[in-house]
Formats: sequence, C-alpha cells, structure tokens
Amino acid sequence: RLPAGFAARVIAWQREHGRHQLPWQRTRDPYRVWLSEIMLQQTQVTTVLGYYERFLARFPDVVALADAPLDEVLSAWSGLGYYSRARNLHRCAQVVRDEHGGRFPASAAELERLPGIGRSTAAAIAAFCFGERAAILDGNVKRVLTRVLGYGHDLAQAKHERELWALAEALLPERDMGPYTQGLMDLGATVCLARSPHCLLCPVQALCAASAAGRPQDYPVKTRK
Ligand code: ADE
Repeated sequence: RLPAGFAARVIAWQREHGRHQLPWQRTRDPYRVWLSEIMLQQTQVTTVLGYYERFLARFPDVVALADAPLDEVLSAWSGLGYYSRARNLHRCAQVVRDEHGGRFPASAAELERLPGIGRSTAAAIAAFCFGERAAILDGNVKRVLTRVLGYGHDLAQAKHERELWALAEALLPERDMGPYTQGLMDLGATVCLARSPHCLLCPVQALCAASAAGRPQDYPVKTRK
C-alpha cells in the first residue's frame, strides 16, 4: 500500500537539488527556526531573506522579543503582511518567557500548544531542531502525498484529513528528518505544482499513482463544505 523508498528518494533529492545555505538552515536554534517558519508561512523565501536577519538583529532571542513593545514588533514586521502572525509571534514569545523559562519546548506536541504554532509548524520545528519524527501536512505537502498515494478522498472531511495525517506519519524516515521535511516542502513548492507539475524532474515519479494515471491535476480532492 505505501510506496517503498519514498523518504529515501526525497532525502537524496533534497541533498542534491535543495537549498542548504539559507540562514535558517544553518542553525538548530528553535527561536531562529520558529521565526523562519512563521515568516515563510505566507511569504516567499526571497522576501523573507530581506527581513529575517534584520528582525534577529533587533530581537536576538525569544526573551528580547517578549520584552519588546508590540508596536516595535509590528514595525519590524511591516511589509511582511498578515499581521496576526506578528501578534501571535509576540504572544508566543511571552508564553515561552513566562511559562517555559525562556526556552522553547523540545517536542512537537508541546510546541503545538503555543500561540500561532499549528500542527505542521510544530512538526517542522521539531524535525529541524531536534530530529523528531513528526509529520508535516501543509497545503503543498497534501498535494504531493495525495498524488503519490493516489489518495482521492475528500480532504474537507475530517476523517480523510485524519487518515492522510496517519499516512504522512507512516511515510516518515527513521533518520534524516531535517532533509526529509525540507525536501517535501521544496518538492511541493517547486516541482509538484498545482496546475502543471514538473513530473519529469520529480524524484518520486516512479512511485506516483497520479502520474502513472496521467491525472496529477485531480489531486488533492477538496470540496467546499
Ligand atoms: N514554508 C514553510 N516552511 C518552509 C521552509 N522551511 N522552507 C521553505 N518554505 C517554507
């Protein structure tokens, strides 16, 4: 049922073709990784690059961010848009300062309880910083996995969404969680595109049910509720 060798191919592709020198890829500091994940949620990498280092220079650690007035945080964020992210960022920093002694918790389950950190973001931080075997399933990754698996059930239904999370967990590698997680994100962002996927460039094409059927555009299935 599950394609053998999926994770190994994603990891090898990321090592060969992925980006490794982005500022947030050169650290395992959860503060820095968390900040990059929040910035990257709705903003392109090239835009984030212009803000990330400046933000860190102004707020070098989570306590500095928590102690800063909100309007200074919003001002450093200005231009990135989606300001609820910046408000949650500030609230999250204060919870880490006040309830976790100024250190981010070291598991996806605990990270997910913090303001502005959803299940996928918690898993990404835990995978990158701690090598935890936690699955991500954002919009891009849903597209990759439903296509590879030929998963044609409606993700608007909670039971199917839950099943896809379980499948994402079953596909996790035993090790190399950082390259695997980054590789999945990058595959979804650069190869397994919504409209016209570049299947010829895809490291998992040989395993992909949607590609074999010639129907990648049919996935994911998501009706409006
Ligand atoms: N979007 C969310 N997280 C990301 C990451 N680590 N790299 C690229 N795009 C992302």
